[in-house]
Amino acid sequence: MLKLIHASKIYHDSGVQALRDVNLHVAAGDYVSITGASGSGKSTLMHILGLLDTLSAGQYLLGGADVSCLPPHTLARLRSEQIGFIFQGFRLLPGMTALENVALPLTLQGIPRTERLERAEQALARVGLSERTTHRPDQLSGGQQQRVAIARAVVTKPRVVLADEPTAGLDPEAAEDVLSLLDGLHHAGHTIVLITHDRAAALRAARRLYLESGVLSGG
Ligand SMILES: Nc1ncnc2c1ncn2[C@@H]1O[C@H](COP(=O)(O)OP(=O)(O)OP(=O)(O)O)[C@@H](O)[C@H]1O
Ligand SMILES: [Mg+2]
Repeated sequence: MLKLIHASKIYHDSGVQALRDVNLHVAAGDYVSITGASGSGKSTLMHILGLLDTLSAGQYLLGGADVSCLPPHTLARLRSEQIGFIFQGFRLLPGMTALENVALPLTLQGIPRTERLERAEQALARVGLSERTTHRPDQLSGGQQQRVAIARAVVTKPRVVLADEPTAGLDPEAAEDVLSLLDGLHHAGHTIVLITHDRAAALRAARRLYLESGVLSGG
């Protein structure tokens, strides 16, 4: 499903080499966690896997197709069709309700309004927030906001779900809810990459990888 071959990333503005000769193979339906210290390259790796950034060297194959050198509009389309993101800090739009936030990725896909709202409602029901559809992010707890973000990540039925520190800043109970939802997505057949500082969270994955100064081990 996801394959990196001799992948490197250098940020030219800072001169930092954030990924060094990374080889990674994530099969369809895998649940993989990636841990590593702050600055080890975890978010960089997520941005590459999520087609939000491109490699400096090496190859990235997504679903068997080489996506290393595609133009931005093609990357944006693939991203919207195949990838769901869960970010640290939720990144919900503050002026919109939970339902509107969840429906947003479907707008980008040009899906008609009635279907958008129906699918957004189903996605919110799946994360246990049917009663909160009209609430704005500032009217929800951190754990609820992250569940809205999970609903938004899966509303397009992406094959791949990428989660960057999805439990950061949540209390243990809310963090457990988020991890249980990820377990559920895994069982439903999504391919999951979980990036986390939290070793207990990492243990939920079927396969655990480790990044140190841009070098990935166990991939
Ligand atoms: N946009 C950028 N421009 C320049 N350098 C960057 C950029 N993003 C990250 N870096 C550098 O690349 C390295 C890896 O950063 P990255 O954000 O991937 O680490 P991380 O493992 O996600 O850290 P954290 O656990 O703190 O989130 C760091 O040295 C960072 O300073
Ligand atoms: Mg990070």
